[in-house]
Amino acid sequence: MRIVLGVGGGIAAYKVASLLRLFTEAGHDVTVIPTEAATRFVGVATWEALSGHPVSSSVFDAVHTVNHVRLGHEADLIVVAPATADLLARAATGQANDLLTNTLLMASGPVLMAPAMHTEMWRHPATQANVETLRSRGVTVLEPASGRLTGADSGPGRLPEPEAIFEAALALAGAASVPGARPVPSSQPAPSTGPSASAARPLAGLTVTISAGGTREPLDPVRFLGNRSSGKQGVALAVAARDAGARVRLLAAHMEVPAPDGVELVSVETALELRKAALHAAADSDVVIMAAAVADFRPADVSGTKIKKRDDVADPVIALVRNPDILQELVEVRDAASRDQLIVGFAAETGDADGDVLEYAEAKLRRKACDLLVVNQVGKDMVFGEDTNSVIILSRSGTEPQEASGSKSDVAAAVLDRISAELSRVVPPA
Ligand code: CTP
Repeated sequence: MRIVLGVGGGIAAYKVASLLRLFTEAGHDVTVIPTEAATRFVGVATWEALSGHPVSSSVFDAVHTVNHVRLGHEADLIVVAPATADLLARAATGQANDLLTNTLLMASGPVLMAPAMHTEMWRHPATQANVETLRSRGVTVLEPASGRLTGADSGPGRLPEPEAIFEAALALAGAASVPGARPVPSSQPAPSTGPSASAARPLAGLTVTISAGGTREPLDPVRFLGNRSSGKQGVALAVAARDAGARVRLLAAHMEVPAPDGVELVSVETALELRKAALHAAADSDVVIMAAAVADFRPADVSGTKIKKRDDVADPVIALVRNPDILQELVEVRDAASRDQLIVGFAAETGDADGDVLEYAEAKLRRKACDLLVVNQVGKDMVFGEDTNSVIILSRSGTEPQEASGSKSDVAAAVLDRISAELSRVVPPA
């Protein structure tokens, strides 16, 4: 695979030498394009020696080879690390003032950016808006790691470890991260090298989008309305789908567990943010699994300042407005576009005097019109935050409801088995 490795001007540039080694030792052909500022941290000679290619930051070197057009055009994958605040801003605004930004504008393959900067810079609304813009255009922007930064400060902003960037990059390119393997050139996952490749990787070549965790709906800058979802079931599904060979996008609302390696992570906070990310990701997904606990309502008004208790006015009453039903909307968009896509919903039901869990779930399956509905019974100490789960999988295709229980990984495996079975029914084999 031909990789362009863009290096931004941050102290973390030194870690990128290890990332370059990981790529070259896995058999990839890497051209390094540092920014001018990056060469103040790690010199051109280091990049040339490690990559075996000439290295330049400028569009005016080796002009006869038309590098500013050719490199981006020919690359199967572009990885930018560290992506500084400045580089994110230049990429988001489409600037072309050095060789790296020209190359990004010419990119015809996937692009992954691994940010690194001080926490304040990362959290600044300008940077967050740039990240949002890039993600909305299909660029994978990793979340920075948390920990010690350059000075005495610590927090989110560290460059993720080279191994994590390497895994995420290969997952993005759909290549097998088997050391020494020459990954396939397309965006499809490489076939497993194991003995029963197709049985072990039933989702190879497919893109699976999974939402996980619980949305948080802000009331004021310090308070929100949330729910008890831990994200464990969604993460177990992401791991199972990744191990089944799929390219996995994890749309993560608030989660108590870390996102797994080897998936493309999109972090969201509110139901409206999740809706936007889900509709965007669904556009090229074969399977969408809505495992997130989405708030049905959000506060009608969000105070820009902290709501204070006051003796001279009445205590506040929170008015709520309805959030859009993302699952239902995904089904509508899919049907309007006549897309071959399997959509899976989750239902948390308690049952009550008017109906039991299954009755409510069957009504929900009819109402939301998704292909599969994974139903769990929620109650005190059940499901939320626990490591085990017990579900019934209902299908619109009319197959018998199927029970699955055990660890959340066991339940994820059962759900993915069912998805594979449904896909082999609806999607003709390639
Ligand atoms: N969901 C969604 N958008 C919402 C609410 C829920 O996409 N605004 C999705 C969830 O991710 C889940 C499914 O819909 O896959 C069921 O969610 P649940 O909260 O159980 O259903 P509700 O539609 O809220 O039904 P009810 O309030 O009647 O239980």
